[in-house]
Amino acid sequence: MLTLSARSAKPSSVRTDAVVVGIVRTSKGMVAVDAAVDVAKAFGRGFVPTLSSLGFEAEPGQVAKLPSSGAVKPALVVAVGLGAADEVDREGLRRAAAAGVQAVANAVSVALALPVDGPDDVQAVGEGALLGLYSYDAYRSAEPDRRPTDVVVLCEKARRREVKRAVETAETVAGAVAMARDWVNAPPNDLNPVTFAEQISAHKSAGKVKVTVLDDKDLTKQGCGGILGVGQGSSNPPRLVQLTYAPRRPAARIALVGKGITFDSGGLSLKPGASMMTMKCDMGGAAAVVAATFAIAELGLPVAITAYAALAENMPSGTASRPGDVLTMRSGKTVEVLNTDAEGRLVLADALDMAVEGEPDLVVDVATLTGACIVALGTRVAGVLSNDESLLHRMPEVAERAGEAMWPLPIPDEVAAKVKTSSMADLRQHNPEPHGGTLFAAAFLREFVKESRWVHLDIAGPAYNDGQAHGYTPKGGTGAAVRTLVRLAHEAASDGLLSTS
Ligand code: BES
Ligand code: MN
Ligand code: ZN
Repeated sequence: MLTLSARSAKPSSVRTDAVVVGIVRTSKGMVAVDAAVDVAKAFGRGFVPTLSSLGFEAEPGQVAKLPSSGAVKPALVVAVGLGAADEVDREGLRRAAAAGVQAVANAVSVALALPVDGPDDVQAVGEGALLGLYSYDAYRSAEPDRRPTDVVVLCEKARRREVKRAVETAETVAGAVAMARDWVNAPPNDLNPVTFAEQISAHKSAGKVKVTVLDDKDLTKQGCGGILGVGQGSSNPPRLVQLTYAPRRPAARIALVGKGITFDSGGLSLKPGASMMTMKCDMGGAAAVVAATFAIAELGLPVAITAYAALAENMPSGTASRPGDVLTMRSGKTVEVLNTDAEGRLVLADALDMAVEGEPDLVVDVATLTGACIVALGTRVAGVLSNDESLLHRMPEVAERAGEAMWPLPIPDEVAAKVKTSSMADLRQHNPEPHGGTLFAAAFLREFVKESRWVHLDIAGPAYNDGQAHGYTPKGGTGAAVRTLVRLAHEAASDGLLSTS
């Protein structure tokens, strides 16, 4: 168990195994941040020259380790670079905190002396540290390296209510991100629509979230042709999981919808082997909306949430749907399937149709939807598409405040028109033209949101880190979109984000 706390102790006398001290660059050279000067003083004049001789230049995220040899209480001092003193922002704090705690091995406790000015900074440092300490060891037989489990943010005002709340928020948010990462990392032979639904139902959320699972029979009754069509090729039947969090006097009502393809082989439009290797990540949207809903409830935010996780496994078989099949969706619209690998939009369409029935103030769907979004924005930036001009631009700002990268993309009229060019059904599911696949997919989804304000987050890039770990982002599942969704609920509750002025 990872625990987080705030303490007002001095970094030189805090009773932890290690202390992380922030170092900035100024016009006078490198200096310890105010919160850490007493450690620098305890080391004496040699402190900065020693760091320098270790090759340390206070580059953001750079670390240098010094045995304290009794100069300060913690046995290990980890200097972490924060870059230029006047350019330190919250994301810089998150990354520095992660780099600092990751440098500590075989110790139990670590304190962080970083420049925290108020509860939001404490939250950022706490989140960075906890997110950076994540590792996925469920399937390892050897004992993993021991990472610190007790994280202390040093802060003069540690006893204030707002600071305590910031610590709880960081713990809850980081816990939700870890939950989403665990689900994404879980191998697809163990996590299928049935077991995923069971695991969601089994989560103890202090009775604050009601979980309902629709099985394949229920889905037939509901007319969910999209979810059933995608799921019919697999021996693991599809599920739709509905979560409701209903606080007493909600400031807003938000519906969340997540794509939950537990494995995307492409179906009969089979993917090449190399493209399939990471396709257990294709339920990252569902993991994000479920984990965020639990976090919002745990934090007791006054925003009503109804979340839908549309779960199916996309497999080729004698029962799989074919290119050429026509599906009747829950909304009544008919869809000509032309590429079974464009399955995400089909499961989302039914869930969106259900979500807008409750006429929420906002519907947000989250999906690893298109490879084209990775071509457009790279692997670390999510695409934002919407039927609401103001939310299209505000969503990336919310994401940035949460520490996530998102960028707006358009749904041009000519692309929206393409969706209606099936030779025989109401809609075509796939555009054979090679470019702009993200826009077409969003245009397709928009057909199912009626008059609701809607935002679509394409997290195909950021949901899974196929490369090296960086900052507080590990290899594998990243928990993308969880922090943005929690932040969105927070801002809808306190900053009137959804008010239409
Ligand atoms: N799950 C994939 C999208 C994806 C690709 C997510 C890479 C994460 C990393 C999606 O179902 C898919 O296969 N999309 C196709 C759509 C195409 C057939 C129109 C794609 O992007 O190639
Ligand atoms: Mn696919
Ligand atoms: Zn997919």
